[in-house]
Amino acid sequence: MNHTSPRLRVFQAFKELHGHSPEYLVCAPGRVNLIGEHTDYNDGYVLPMALDRAIWIALSSLSEPEVRLHSLDFDQEASVFLDQPLMKEEGWKEYLKGMIEISNASGLELFGWKGVMAGDVPIGAGLSSSAAMELALGRAFGVVGNWKWNPTQMARISQRAENEWVGMNCGIMDQMVSASGRKGHAMFLDCQSLEATDVPVPDAVRVVILDTNTRRGLVDSAYNERRSQCESAARYFGVTVLRDVSMEQLNQSEAMLDPLEFRRARHVITENCRVLDCVKALRSGNLDRVGKLMKESHISLRDDFEVSSEALDLIAECAYKAPGCYGARMTGAGFGGCAVALVDVSCIEEFVEQVLKDYAETSERNGLLYVCSPSDGASVFSVENC
Ligand code: GLA
Repeated sequence: MNHTSPRLRVFQAFKELHGHSPEYLVCAPGRVNLIGEHTDYNDGYVLPMALDRAIWIALSSLSEPEVRLHSLDFDQEASVFLDQPLMKEEGWKEYLKGMIEISNASGLELFGWKGVMAGDVPIGAGLSSSAAMELALGRAFGVVGNWKWNPTQMARISQRAENEWVGMNCGIMDQMVSASGRKGHAMFLDCQSLEATDVPVPDAVRVVILDTNTRRGLVDSAYNERRSQCESAARYFGVTVLRDVSMEQLNQSEAMLDPLEFRRARHVITENCRVLDCVKALRSGNLDRVGKLMKESHISLRDDFEVSSEALDLIAECAYKAPGCYGARMTGAGFGGCAVALVDVSCIEEFVEQVLKDYAETSERNGLLYVCSPSDGASVFSVENC
């Protein structure tokens, strides 16, 4: 990955490519989820935060109905006409087409622009580089079309673009936090009402992302399969989402339910309780409790939901043993990618050093650690301040 900030890279590349400065700079962050995994599409609770890593676009309006977007990361150019039918293909350009298609269908007026895009959200690592791209594109269309920015509406459009155009049946968590995360805070989101509450991340801790450096293919199909298993379990109880099933109801039906669906449902129902508990513990500064809940979440994802992996289990174990760690767990869809740890600020350096060493020795792979700060959601910047 290029170490110059993507903000500067897109600005400079735009000037080189077009011979003048861009009119606007927009960005949208990736995310890490502290707790509440595979609960969003069950209308449950989640507690993600927006990262200080984002997708950036430098852009200027065009008078023609066309988007010409150069991606520095993919070293490719997309050209899409806004007044012509779009064809589905594969790759990063589908996010652009999906956003155009669904924004159009939602009655938003789209105007043309040319831009350069780059980011520093690791791709395929479970840190939502795709939601970041969708929201950055939403911001770009919003600023040239002079839309009143409505983060929840844009999160829904982005989710639909991913569900209906890209074919990944994701929930709403990533898009909501990329659209409207707040600096210094995690976002406690009720995925049924979409009511979001900011929860301060205490100064005494740092959130550390532990990248296993493993990526698994076919995540989308395993993800979509988990989602159908949850829907099928909910149907047994005569409801559409597991949010509306209690632990008591589940336990009473254990003998009748398919054992696999029982475990999937148990993860979702207990995970929702852990999120509520975790929000309380964070607010009262009970970091030991937060850490314990993170550990329990990992075990439930590993054993009941079966979305962890050897590398994720290993890196979480390395984190538990390292100095200053309150807790750690896999984060995002799973099967590879990243874990997240909550670490005492006074031990950060020792923590990072020990986890890297321990993980390299036990897995024979080099992990990557990012100490990150909770950041703002999708934003527009004036070019003068660049
Ligand atoms: C992916 C999806 C989210 C969510 C998580 C699992 O990141 O995009 O909607 O379901 O997996 O919690």
